[in-house]
Amino acid sequence: MNTTIPSPFSSPPPDAGLNGAAAWRDLAFVLGATLTTFFLAGLLELSEGVGGVLKHFEDYQLDEAPLAVAVLVAGLAWSSWRRSRQAARELGLRLEAQERLARQRQYFEMLFNENLSASLIADGEGRVQLANPELARFFGLPQPEAALGRDLGGFYTDAEAWAAHREALGRGEKVEVAALRVRRADDQEAVAIARLVSSRNPQGVMEVHAFFTDVSKLESTRAELAQALEENRLLAQRGIEMLEAERRHIARELHDEMGQWLNALKIDAVSVRDRADVPADVRAASQGMVELINHVYDVARELMRRLRPVALDELGLAPALQYCVDQWRRRHPALTCEFSAEGLPDSFGEAANITLYRLVQECLTNVAKHAQAREVRIALRFDAGSRELQATVGDDGQGIDGQGGRAGLGLVGLRERIEMLGGRFRVDSAPGRGTTVSACIPFTVSGITA
Ligand SMILES: Nc1ncnc2c1ncn2[C@@H]1O[C@H](COP(=O)(O)OP(=O)(O)OP(=O)(O)O)[C@@H](O)[C@H]1O
Ligand SMILES: [Mg+2]
Repeated sequence: MNTTIPSPFSSPPPDAGLNGAAAWRDLAFVLGATLTTFFLAGLLELSEGVGGVLKHFEDYQLDEAPLAVAVLVAGLAWSSWRRSRQAARELGLRLEAQERLARQRQYFEMLFNENLSASLIADGEGRVQLANPELARFFGLPQPEAALGRDLGGFYTDAEAWAAHREALGRGEKVEVAALRVRRADDQEAVAIARLVSSRNPQGVMEVHAFFTDVSKLESTRAELAQALEENRLLAQRGIEMLEAERRHIARELHDEMGQWLNALKIDAVSVRDRADVPADVRAASQGMVELINHVYDVARELMRRLRPVALDELGLAPALQYCVDQWRRRHPALTCEFSAEGLPDSFGEAANITLYRLVQECLTNVAKHAQAREVRIALRFDAGSRELQATVGDDGQGIDGQGGRAGLGLVGLRERIEMLGGRFRVDSAPGRGTTVSACIPFTVSGITA
């Protein structure tokens, strides 16, 4: 493991600029040199000697040289004072820029170290150069430095995925993965949302920046939810199957038991009514009984039909629906109801048949209850291409209001039934623009074993 890689966040050496003590030292030196020269010149009568020599060169004006040299010295001193002021100004600017840089470094360091995403920087080979504390936590390492020098590909559970990502990064592409499986230091698997980008450093060498957000808990919760949903679906399926079985049983009992007894009663009542020797009031009472029995029989038959559409078992889906629609038309003569069933196979299986029957039944009830429509269109067709049965019930009524209507169980139950068969269910509606309920059911459904 390589721990000698320097951190880009380590501070530069302190600035080795001018300091006050050195300036005072220089000034003392100049003053010392001047005083020493003055003392020695006084001692040796230097100016008089120089004046004596120079006066022989008066033709060349060299006796004026001391004054000119004095001006030169003063000019040089003035110029170096100006240079030093300029240098001090530049130094100030440089220090300010350095301070800004240090502040920015601090910000980035904070962002990197405190980030909730596990982040790392790797070289072009994928060797980690820098890692943040969250990365150490996510991969189960004791500290970020433990990641340095490791191979980024070693964190992947799928070597091929890393090879593909590395290739994409080499092409300068950004890699985003919604659920990347990675391996932690304790060999446990974890799941992360990952983003990898490549860049070139100032020397033109490729670097990889990788960011991981731990979604392992979310993933396991999602899996648990999916499982709970599946169990719920199975439970609902079982409930609906039991409901249909119970309905069928009650309908059969009504038919076999009540039908028989009502029939026997009616035969008795008719025989009493038709006897020649019974008084007129008994005949009238018998006739009343016959009418009552007929009425009870009609009610029972309607009940049986609602509980279990016998036509569905005996004739199949399309005729049973046709019968249901005809009955509905009779009860709602003011409404126009179009019904079409195209190319339906002979049988879809028990489950699909009863589901579609319940769909049309519930939608027609809803139209009568809520829609205030003038027209209803019911269409069933089999799409041979997708091998799906498509059913729609549309009306031109007031539509479902903005809040999605009252919380009833009809539409919810339909969705449940259809999704249970692997189908799709949707309700399209807008205020004043009618309602269309549509369902698609795949043909491969198996029957309900009621
Ligand atoms: N064809 C329609 N036209 C207008 N509104 C509708 C139509 N179908 C349903 N709705 C609205 O959607 C709501 C929910 O319908 P749903 O069938 O689920 O419940 P419900 O009919 O009120 O009660 P339930 O079916 O449980 O007896 C209804 O209350 C109604 O407001
Ligand atoms: Mg309803």
